[in-house]
Amino acid sequence: MLKVAVLVSGRGSNLQALIDVCAKDDFPAEIVTVISNVPDVFALERAAKAGIATSVVNHKNYPDRQSFETELQVAIGDSGAELVCLAGFMRILTDGFVNQWRDRLVNIHPSLLPSFKGVHVHEQALEAGVKVSGCTVHFVVPDLDSGPIIAQETVPVLQDDDADALAARILEAEHRCYPEALRLIAEGRVVVTGNKTVIQTALA
Ligand code: GRF
Repeated sequence: MLKVAVLVSGRGSNLQALIDVCAKDDFPAEIVTVISNVPDVFALERAAKAGIATSVVNHKNYPDRQSFETELQVAIGDSGAELVCLAGFMRILTDGFVNQWRDRLVNIHPSLLPSFKGVHVHEQALEAGVKVSGCTVHFVVPDLDSGPIIAQETVPVLQDDDADALAARILEAEHRCYPEALRLIAEGRVVVTGNKTVIQTALA
């Protein structure tokens, strides 16, 4: 079983998708801790309900990014996690942290990367007039939203979409894509080569 720490900052619907898939028989990963940088968010309730250990490392209690991340590392280290999944975690991590977790730190982003990095992603997509958008699960590297892509799912962009409508459609895809990516990683089938991944075929 691959031990996973999930980092959150908010409602935690992607966390829920990961909790649900980990609860399935024979799923090769387990969530050992959920850590939030924001107190009292719904994601923490979801974790507690599933019987998963939680902690809050509130960035506001630390004088700088470094000391915040040191505490984050302690919380992750204490859990024994081997993989860290960011699920709506709204803090930029330093290069030091990212490099320490190289190829073991995963994020989900609500666009088809490398299009529409950063924030206001759905507004960017609508502005560009794309006819499809979607989500991307990728390894985190120091450059924002740029690491090796593990899995993507597309959704149509409809004529009368606003950002909320598009976000909702993409979120449903996220809830399929993140669990599937976690499965591939936990099965040891994701090989990073340069800035790409190769997904190895499952053994029969
Ligand atoms: C998702 O859209 C995710 O792609 C982005 O932040 C949102 C988090 O939503 N990084 P939730 O907290 O998982 O519901």
